[in-house]
Amino acid sequence: MFGRRIFYEVGALVFDIGSFSIRAGYAGEDMPKAEFPSTVGVVEDVVDTPMQTDDTNSSQPEKQKSYHFDTVNIKVPRKGKEMVTFLKEGMVNDWDLFEKVMDHTYSKYIKSESELHPVLMSEPAWNVRTNRERLTEVMFEKYNIPAFFLCKNAVLSAYPSTDSGGFSDIFANGRSTGLVLDSGSTHTTAVPVYDGYVLQQAIVKSPLAGDFITMECRKQMEEMSIEVIPPYMIASKEPVQESASAKWKKKPGLVEVTKSFHNYMVKDVLQDFAASALQVSDSPYEQEVAESMPTVHYEFPNGFNIDFAEERLRIPEALFDPSVIKDLQGANSMLSVGPVVTTSVGMCDIDIRPSLYNSVIVVGGNTLLNGFTDRLNRDLSTKIPPNMKLKIISSSVSAERRFSSWIGGSILASLGSFHQMWISKQEYEETGRSCVEKKCP
Ligand SMILES: Nc1ncnc2c1ncn2[C@@H]1O[C@H](COP(=O)(O)OP(=O)(O)OP(=O)(O)O)[C@@H](O)[C@H]1O
Ligand SMILES: [Mg+2]
Repeated sequence: MFGRRIFYEVGALVFDIGSFSIRAGYAGEDMPKAEFPSTVGVVEDVVDTPMQTDDTNSSQPEKQKSYHFDTVNIKVPRKGKEMVTFLKEGMVNDWDLFEKVMDHTYSKYIKSESELHPVLMSEPAWNVRTNRERLTEVMFEKYNIPAFFLCKNAVLSAYPSTDSGGFSDIFANGRSTGLVLDSGSTHTTAVPVYDGYVLQQAIVKSPLAGDFITMECRKQMEEMSIEVIPPYMIASKEPVQESASAKWKKKPGLVEVTKSFHNYMVKDVLQDFAASALQVSDSPYEQEVAESMPTVHYEFPNGFNIDFAEERLRIPEALFDPSVIKDLQGANSMLSVGPVVTTSVGMCDIDIRPSLYNSVIVVGGNTLLNGFTDRLNRDLSTKIPPNMKLKIISSSVSAERRFSSWIGGSILASLGSFHQMWISKQEYEETGRSCVEKKCP
């Protein structure tokens, strides 16, 4: 018994896996130790391997893959490097690659034996049983961890955000209630959390999120005939006048890169553009109003620079009113941010709707777009029944909004009362992988 306690008190680890990035670190700390892209660069090399025969000189060509991780490393151009991810709809669907990513996380950031640390991992609210069981199995069998817990990321995000007097209280008193609105890279979702449990039947998802915004930025650049040149191609640049053609030199001897690599690099530039130049209008978009707004000057990596005007407001407007999207099939059937929330609350029991509207927790990187929460507040105020009190909870610290589920996991795993929640290795060995369904609702 004592032995096990000691184990658990060696820091638990928290892994928060998102489609954009992975957040990893020790429970009890304020921020994750590491954040790195969920995208991995994979190069397939053909190498000559000696054959297992008496003839020591003979060799056989064999395919071997090398993997490239981390913000800086994956941006290095390499011949044939394909940019891939192990996730689909936020759920693991390439298990080999997932293990490569976990190996990398342990060796590069954790730098300690996996056997020593319990692991709390986040999952999307719609994760499926087979997937959860396989994850549990991989963590116990491959990484030999002493204890495991799988928790819905919306539940984790609700911990640090619910303001009912201290984090430990929230857990001790039985948990949090709120509507978690998470806009990340692939999806915007509304997940109602009641008493610490997700109300599965009322989860609402929309594809209007960060990746969609970058795609719209790309269309906008094409329309304005701006060629986005990523830094990996640029050897040098000269300052030029606004709107004048860029004067830049291409890096000599650039290797031939794949489409997926180039697109990833272009996307990276556009993500920076979105974060610095876009502005969500505080009321429904009107062209005249948008044209009278201050412009924002933006310089691209190759030195081309220009003022952005009404497009600053028009691009993110699509999150709140998809009908402004040009040539996008099915745009009218996509739920914008306000209706994602109201639809989800509308599917919950009428008695709990007031407590959900009273705690709309806004998280995810895409909500950091300037003006996002103000507009959400405005749109919801006009749509919800007048007798409901609306309260939007959003951290003004951008890292807290992006890392909300990691931070929630960090708090949860370090609470004394959490000890009894872990699936211990012994329990796993006795009952098998299905224990995750019982222990981690
Ligand atoms: N300051 C910012 N302004 C605007 N967008 C931002 C900002 N910072 C990050 N983003 C966008 O937020 C998205 C990433 O958000 P987040 O880290 O919440 O995603 P994730 O949890 O990894 O992915 P998902 O929730 O889709 O599985 C990206 O599309 C990124 O471009
Ligand atoms: Mg996310």
